[in-house]
Amino acid sequence: MSLPIVDTFGRKHTYLRISLTDKCNLRCTYCMPQEEMQFMPSKWLMQADEIQELAKIFVDMGVDKIRLTGGEPLIRKDFGQIIEGLGQLNTSLTLTTNALLIDQFISQLKDTGVRSLNVSLDTLKEERFFEITKRTHFLKTWDNIQLLLAEGFVVKVNMVVMKGINDDEVNDFVRLTLNEPNLHVRFIEFMPFKGNQWEMSKIFSYADLLTFISREFEFTKLPGELHDTAHSFQVNGGAGTFGIIGTVTHPFCAGCNRIRLTADGKLKNCLFDTSEIDLLTPLREGKNVRELIYAHFHKKHFAYGGHVDFSEKQAKSEYEQNRNMIAIGG
Ligand code: GTP
Ligand code: 5AD
Ligand code: SF4
Repeated sequence: MSLPIVDTFGRKHTYLRISLTDKCNLRCTYCMPQEEMQFMPSKWLMQADEIQELAKIFVDMGVDKIRLTGGEPLIRKDFGQIIEGLGQLNTSLTLTTNALLIDQFISQLKDTGVRSLNVSLDTLKEERFFEITKRTHFLKTWDNIQLLLAEGFVVKVNMVVMKGINDDEVNDFVRLTLNEPNLHVRFIEFMPFKGNQWEMSKIFSYADLLTFISREFEFTKLPGELHDTAHSFQVNGGAGTFGIIGTVTHPFCAGCNRIRLTADGKLKNCLFDTSEIDLLTPLREGKNVRELIYAHFHKKHFAYGGHVDFSEKQAKSEYEQNRNMIAIGG
């Protein structure tokens, strides 16, 4: 086994997020620009065997959790081949998906040891789903979430809460967790990425959420790990939980354990860091990829990729230099 990936702040990086594609079958406004996106040509993408080779290297360097992301990971034609390979590695394996295609993959996910999935869903209203995603697939998404639960998967529902767009539904999402032990809802503060029209005033913050939820429910804070994105809570007497991912007002950088690989094989040492390095070309050329990885994480900033804060001025200049969220994978 190689040395672990530790940065200058002593943070050990054991959680690898691999984006499989920057394409998606939805068009969520907070994730991609309103105008047409320039998607990556397929020849830029890591192939299944290259994903496997890189993942193996990371596992040898101490990674014990792999999450597949997109865009939407399930639209990759070779998704089955990819998870079959990754399922053989000694890690926990999971994905973040919009669930639209999940019914086609249930048995394969089970066979490869996937037990828990994160599903993006921002509204329980059909019309609003169309406004946010520009697609009419609410019922399919909903049915597939129910299918996952019926099949015994743990489902974490990710809701990006935006003021005046869907904040009125927060308690409806909390209510979903009351009788369902395998359902965990996470409310996410809206984050700035290229082209997503972020404004501070659109954030429904950690504090806003707690105030809003406490109008209807009594709840208890649950213990968590330093590296968790979400602070978790449970309605007293409830079965599932709800959590708040407060990147903007409650950052969790101190415990960061994340490594990101984009679909075109670039390594990101932070969600907000723009100094990516290419791993795919050196891999193809048979070069020592491990040394590149150590060096890149040695340069990792403490928080936010070195940006100071999320003021609007910063968001409009620095965060616009980053990729579109759809090309990072969250
Ligand atoms: P778990 O493994 O269930 O904890 O999932 P996760 O929260 O790491 O991943 P998921 O893909 O469900 O992402 C949920 C939200 O957290 C998204 O908005 C992500 O962009 C955000 N997120 C995930 N990882 C990071 C991170 O390292 N930093 C920040 N700031 N946000 C993150
Ligand atoms: N801010 C916060 N979360 C976001 N996601 C996508 N775009 C944003 C954003 N601008 C979430 C999606 C998905 C996860 C990977 O990232 O809801 O569940
Ligand atoms: Fe890690 Fe960067 Fe996310 Fe902070 S913002 S938790 S340093 S990836």
